[in-house]
Amino acid sequence: MLSRLALILGVSVALAGAAIELNPSRPLLFGTHRLIPRAPAKLEDNETGHGAVWNQLQVRQSQTNPQNRNSFPIRYVSNDQHYRRGGPLFLFIGGPWELQEHLVEQGHFFDIAKNMSAYLVANELRYYGESIPAENATRLNLRYLALAHILPDIANLITHLMYEVLRDPGATVILAGVGFSASIAQWTRQRYQHLVQGVWSSSGMVKASTNFVEFTEVVGENIRRFGSDECYNAIWQGFRVAENLIDAGLSTTLDNLFDVCNPIKSDDPVDVEAFLNGIFNEISLQAVDIDLRENIDRMCQILTDPEKNNSLTALSNWLTGLFPDAECLVMDFESITEAYQVTDWQDEMLRNGERQWLYHRCTALGWPLTSSSPYQPFGRRISPDLFMQICERVFNDWLTPDVFRALVRDTNIFWGGGRPDVQRVYHTHGSLDPWRYAGVYFAYGNSYSRVIWNATHGEDLASISEDDSYALRLAKERVAQEIRRWVYQSSGPPLPPPPPPPPSSPAGLGLL
Ligand SMILES: *[C@@H]1O[C@H](CO)[C@@H](O)[C@H](O)[C@H]1NC(C)=O
Ligand SMILES: *[C@@H]1O[C@H](CO)[C@@H](O)[C@H](O)[C@H]1NC(C)=O
Ligand SMILES: *[C@@H]1O[C@H](CO)[C@@H](O)[C@H](O)[C@H]1NC(C)=O
Ligand SMILES: *[C@@H]1O[C@H](CO)[C@@H](O)[C@H](O)[C@H]1NC(C)=O
Ligand SMILES: *[C@@H]1O[C@H](CO)[C@@H](O)[C@H](O)[C@H]1NC(C)=O
Repeated sequence: MLSRLALILGVSVALAGAAIELNPSRPLLFGTHRLIPRAPAKLEDNETGHGAVWNQLQVRQSQTNPQNRNSFPIRYVSNDQHYRRGGPLFLFIGGPWELQEHLVEQGHFFDIAKNMSAYLVANELRYYGESIPAENATRLNLRYLALAHILPDIANLITHLMYEVLRDPGATVILAGVGFSASIAQWTRQRYQHLVQGVWSSSGMVKASTNFVEFTEVVGENIRRFGSDECYNAIWQGFRVAENLIDAGLSTTLDNLFDVCNPIKSDDPVDVEAFLNGIFNEISLQAVDIDLRENIDRMCQILTDPEKNNSLTALSNWLTGLFPDAECLVMDFESITEAYQVTDWQDEMLRNGERQWLYHRCTALGWPLTSSSPYQPFGRRISPDLFMQICERVFNDWLTPDVFRALVRDTNIFWGGGRPDVQRVYHTHGSLDPWRYAGVYFAYGNSYSRVIWNATHGEDLASISEDDSYALRLAKERVAQEIRRWVYQSSGPPLPPPPPPPPSSPAGLGLL
């Protein structure tokens, strides 16, 4: 998997849905589909754009309980190289990932910040990277991982930067984010309208759901478009044959074909779902990333190879071929839940943010990716049950399906789901992104929304480039225009251009 991910480094900000390969000989075919903005390329020492400075801010462990006075540091990086007094404050919101410097050193938000002489900051979300509020990650200690604490952290950071760092209480504040971090950005504006004057939400995911049916539909459409109908049909058939084999009591055939480490328990519906979900998980990873065209093409060549005897053997050949170093593949319910039940921060599943992100999903956001829709090729068995049972098991029984449904419902009641009542938020989505159905993907009232044709999740985060399609270019220019307008409306005309730099090269002086 690592070598496969390494190939993805392109010229733009890419996103990685993490699959779990802690032990290369026994990879776990499950993932929470975290999407992580990644640097296009390491900057050379001599290139411009450096300037990230690491800082931290002490915030309260509980932002809601006045009797709890414990505190811990959250990290942020700032870049003041282009800031000029009176300029705005730009903040890229932290998501389910470890904070990285490139967020304040390159990309479209950086370019806009530079153009507007802004002070640029990116923060780390509590519970990720080194912004850790509790000594271990037991279920009880995850209780501060909730929006009720996350949003005040951001309000604290904004006021700290305005009053103590910039010493400019009138500074205009603009937020940006991608995926879940865009959701937090939007919700921060909904909660603290007086602190935030505008938000760019790239691929924001704000509509919580107990059964996310559209995801598999978009993955299927992408496979049809960039692979072929034949490839889509091979997957369709492969899943039907697998389901029929299980029903006929022949699951050992599947155990052998797919090299599973632990045989499928065919009398346990959740274990059957876990197996089918394992195959779906790996296919879907091919179909969401910035390199989906190449990934799908490569996958479909194998799936539609006439040398393979049938769709099922083609599917098992492709899947096992992804993991050449594996002795067997892990996709059973017991192993999945066990992997997530770790509490030591040094454990890989906490360092990479998997357990934390599952907790967000189980307690607020939901999005079980299911095969409930008839318009997708991944069979009929993957239901919300699998996700709910995983939540219940991993977080110690208290999180029953009823509690889960109530929590997801609360999130939508509280924030407005796909129709939030909020102004000055600019939503962008890629038409190829399966997550866009969890976002605000149509315009209404005072909100703007743009679905960028032929683009993937967060593809507009990268700087404007010659290679951009017309739609992508237009969307990026519109975002820059909106942000300029918001800043202008809140703080007056933009600052005049900076004076020319003083002559610095000795050669120049020598001419005098
Ligand atoms: C930076 O250095 C690399 C090689 O070290 C060189 O290829 C490149 O042109 C340099 N870039 C600039 C902007 O000077
Ligand atoms: C910022 O961008 C606008 C529009 O592209 C341009 O007119 C202006 O010169 C830029 N300002 C700076 C300081 O780069
Ligand atoms: C986790 O931390 C709590 C204190 O926050 C402590 O009481 C508990 O024993 C720890 N549990 C584990 C498994 O380390
Ligand atoms: C196809 O079937 C033949 C005979 O049953 C078998 O020898 C061969 O290995 C199969 N090919 C694949 C790719 O499974
Ligand atoms: C869609 O985007 C890809 C990659 O940016 C590009 O190669 C392709 O030509 C685009 N397709 C169309 C029809 O514009």
